[in-house]
Amino acid sequence: MTVSELQLQPLTQAQLEAVVELDRVCLGGLWTLEGYQRELESPNSELLVLSVPSAAANEAGSSQKGQSPPLLGLGCFWAIVEEAHITLLAIHPDYHRQGLGQFLLLALLEKAVQRGLERATLEVRVSNEAAIALYQKLGFRIAGRRKGYYQKTQEDALILWLGGLQDPKFLQNLKIWQQKGRDRLPWKLPENPQNSPLSP
Ligand SMILES: CC(C)(COP(=O)(O)OP(=O)(O)OC[C@H]1O[C@@H](n2cnc3c(N)ncnc32)[C@H](O)[C@@H]1OP(=O)(O)O)[C@@H](O)C(=O)NCCC(=O)NCCS
Repeated sequence: MTVSELQLQPLTQAQLEAVVELDRVCLGGLWTLEGYQRELESPNSELLVLSVPSAAANEAGSSQKGQSPPLLGLGCFWAIVEEAHITLLAIHPDYHRQGLGQFLLLALLEKAVQRGLERATLEVRVSNEAAIALYQKLGFRIAGRRKGYYQKTQEDALILWLGGLQDPKFLQNLKIWQQKGRDRLPWKLPENPQNSPLSP
């Protein structure tokens, strides 16, 4: 494998159809193509996607050999005043539990730090144990609950917050988590930060 097989980059126009398909598979069709188009055009939106060449994706464990998806994950936040409102975080079901969700969330938080934001927040279903465990692992705290927040199911949402994004200690921890995360991933990333799509 080459060092750049796992790619993390801002969503591009050419990936619009692929991201809608990933959204359908992971989130049951939350946003439309027009919705993603608006994200591309919004200066307040940060939308990152993970992709790998098909062969590498299959090596890393797709259950459908030869049919790996063009995108493996997506994550998005809206910068609102001093806050990063995380609106999406999803990994293709064939690639769960490989560290990709954590990797993507850390990348979003790094982007939030680079934008000078102070806090991150999101809503999550009370039954979504995987996501809650992931957010709590990275320091998010439960700050409240919205009753019947999800219209279709009437399920409650937990409101999670993570403060201190501009605290130098947080940046230090972010770098440590990122390094550990990179070591764990079944793919490699470019080592030179100058070449990283996440460089400011
Ligand atoms: C939540 C989600 C993004 C996690 O992605 P993932 O790539 O499988 O997660 P990772 O492998 O990076 O796991 C990182 C940590 O999250 C937690 N975690 C992830 N999946 C978990 C599960 N099924 N059960 C318990 N903890 C879990 C663990 O703390 C894990 O750390 P560990 O591997 O050291 O135990 C993924 O399950 C997903 O896409 N779910 C559907 C969409 C969704 O619910 N998004 C969140 C909306 S707020």
